[in-house]
Amino acid sequence: MKQIIIALLSFILVILVRTSLATTKYILAKGGNYYDIVALGAKPDPNIDSSNALKVAWKSACGSLGRSTIFIPQGRFLVRNAIKFSGKGCQTSGITFIIKGTIAAPKDFRVLGNSKTWVLFEDAYDVTISGGVFDGEGAGLWDCKRFGKGSCPRGVTTLGFINSMNIIVNGVTSLNSQLFHMVFNGCKNVKVQGAKISASGDSPNTDGIHVQKSTGVTILNSHIATGDDCISIGPGATNLWIQEITCGPGHGISIGSLGKELNEAGVQNVTVKMTTFTNTQNGVRIKSWGRPSSGYVRNIVFQQLTMVHAQNPIIIDQNYCPSHKGCPNKVSGVRVSNVTYKDIRGSSATPIAVKLDCSSKYHCSGITMEDINLSHNNKPSSSSCTNSVGTTFGVVQPNGCL
Ligand SMILES: *[C@@H]1O[C@H](CO)[C@@H](O)[C@H](O)[C@H]1NC(C)=O
Ligand SMILES: *[C@@H]1O[C@H](CO)[C@@H](O)[C@H](O)[C@H]1NC(C)=O
Ligand SMILES: *[C@@H]1O[C@H](CO)[C@@H](O)[C@H](O)[C@H]1NC(C)=O
Repeated sequence: MKQIIIALLSFILVILVRTSLATTKYILAKGGNYYDIVALGAKPDPNIDSSNALKVAWKSACGSLGRSTIFIPQGRFLVRNAIKFSGKGCQTSGITFIIKGTIAAPKDFRVLGNSKTWVLFEDAYDVTISGGVFDGEGAGLWDCKRFGKGSCPRGVTTLGFINSMNIIVNGVTSLNSQLFHMVFNGCKNVKVQGAKISASGDSPNTDGIHVQKSTGVTILNSHIATGDDCISIGPGATNLWIQEITCGPGHGISIGSLGKELNEAGVQNVTVKMTTFTNTQNGVRIKSWGRPSSGYVRNIVFQQLTMVHAQNPIIIDQNYCPSHKGCPNKVSGVRVSNVTYKDIRGSSATPIAVKLDCSSKYHCSGITMEDINLSHNNKPSSSSCTNSVGTTFGVVQPNGCL
């Protein structure tokens, strides 16, 4: 009997030592600065606001030397008001969020109302967000916008990065944003991969990922289904790489709208590869206002794309002018040049699969079309092109544009 008890006690001892060793190793591996938001007062309860614990975690991580980890365990954590993680004055060499649970917006959309961005990173550097779900609870606002006759707030972007650098967003899910899901503005060196973004196909302005005034942004291996553009690219986006995206429902991948302003930064060096568009309004689109502007679009590659019943698989629209106001003669100042469409296949939901409607003042130039085969109802599709100049290689169906 005595021996059994001793054996049992030593067994328990071994387990205890092992567990604490493992924990120590884990903490050491994370650099020693480890902040679990539950230990800081957060509650996995959809009715209790956990904002404060997140703020405390960020403040501590920001002020710590070395790398820090902020841990958000399983459960649904309410973040009731807009929260800003500012990197100004931080000591840290990097902060990683490990998220197992869900960060939830309040069900009442008026609480966040006009806050612009719900979860905002500003002047942040070396930030990684790994895993987790951001639930924007946007459905109420969409309904308000559909039926509310103008009395609805504008809504918030779910996750925003402003003036930030060396950002990784890995395996993050964003659901039902009120407005855009993710925005990168003024950022440098960003990698988004394995994102799952979804909002209803008829939800207003729920763009998946919006990039502007940013350079070195890579978006890989993500599923995006929304009511607006899967990815939208605004003025000043350069060196952008987009690969292995499934898009749909949604409005496709869009460079623009550009040229709304007279003085505007250009878009340069954008690649979209190995991407599938299913039941989308557009495939790849370049869109500019029909008004004077210093903007431009150049060095763009659209390659290895599959269209499944996309309404406008390939489109350049330089006559954008909603409600027909402020577009004198509808002439766009945005110069579009060096755009390559290569290896694009599948089906168009409309008879015109390729539509290039370019500025009459600055014709689209250096357009290359190579190995394109787009059908409509199992028959060849057609094209419609104005003011566009370029070269065709290989089999291009529909042809006749360049
Ligand atoms: C274009 O962008 C890619 C990243 O997407 C970058 O690797 C490459 O160097 C850029 N090219 C130029 C000429 O800047
Ligand atoms: C056209 O764009 C491609 C892709 O960005 C680039 O490699 C090439 O140098 C550009 N050509 C010219 C003439 O600018
Ligand atoms: C284009 O694709 C259709 C089927 O989608 C196929 O029947 C046709 O042969 C293809 N045309 C060329 C020239 O490859």
